[in-house]
Amino acid sequence: MAKRKKKAAKSVDEGSQERLSRQVYEKELKALHVELVKLQQWVVAKGLKVCIVFEGRDGAGKGGTIKAITERVSPRIFRVVALPAPTDREKTQMYAQRYLVHMPAAGEVVIFDRSWYNRAGVERVMGFCTEEQTHKFLTVVPLFEKMMVESGIILLKYWLEVSPEEQRRRLEDRINDGRKIWKLSPMDLKSFSRWDEYTRARDEMFAASDSSWAPWFMARSEDKRRVRLNLISHLLKQIPYGDLTRDAAIKLPKRGTLGRYKAAPY
Ligand code: ADP
Ligand code: AMP
Ligand code: MLT
Repeated sequence: MAKRKKKAAKSVDEGSQERLSRQVYEKELKALHVELVKLQQWVVAKGLKVCIVFEGRDGAGKGGTIKAITERVSPRIFRVVALPAPTDREKTQMYAQRYLVHMPAAGEVVIFDRSWYNRAGVERVMGFCTEEQTHKFLTVVPLFEKMMVESGIILLKYWLEVSPEEQRRRLEDRINDGRKIWKLSPMDLKSFSRWDEYTRARDEMFAASDSSWAPWFMARSEDKRRVRLNLISHLLKQIPYGDLTRDAAIKLPKRGTLGRYKAAPY
């Protein structure tokens, strides 16, 4: 494993961290959604393969940020992969195997809501794997990612960073809000009590896997709206794209007479 560094990830954050009003957020998000559509059309036209990894503690806001990215784009092109715990059969296979089958083909963007980094985070902290397995993983993961990148995949890795106070608020919210209760898992409760173990695991993960071909980007997630805007802006800057969405020649074709179904018949 590489020597342990304090913090290896680069920050994606811009400007202040004050809470954003809904109005400003929605206006900015709308503009970013237009850009994401341009990116989408570019990815399809140029046959790009994009893989975006989201990692972070329970309650870090991964799911919400991924929703903000995918809200206005095609689910055929942007695919979200959020794998459950491995089955007994999967546990006997190569560790990377169940992730590899989800890698993007040309014209696809695959977003991993948690990823192969489980072995350096959740699995390690919860004791679902041995220390030796984690160490082996951390040794090979840069090579695994090098193979991905050399095969033409654009790989982006984001860590969402949340404070212990904000994590507490969000997990309490999950308990109290019927819309969020499904997100609360036994894993959340355990990881809540193992903050420091998780921090150590995160730092070792960064130290071992922040490479020039697949660097980590860290996004402060104290304010959900701000992290979404910052992260999407950052993401758009990582992949050069042009605008293929505006063909001046596009017009609706002429339509025949509408006859008696002009208005809805009810
Ligand atoms: P999430 O926080 O992604 O909504 P959970 O909190 O339920 O989901 O679980 C966190 C992660 O831990 C998931 O990626 C899940 O697959 C993984 N996990 C849960 N149980 C096990 C297990 N027994 N072995 C390995 N991984 C597990
Ligand atoms: P670098 O070491 O940053 O000069 O990058 C070496 C090669 O890897 C170049 O061809 C880059 O285009 C490519 N590369 C760097 N970062 C990424 C990434 N996150 N995803 C895919 N390719 C990358
Ligand atoms: C998390 O990071 O645990 C969740 O994905 C948060 C969310 O759903 O926004």
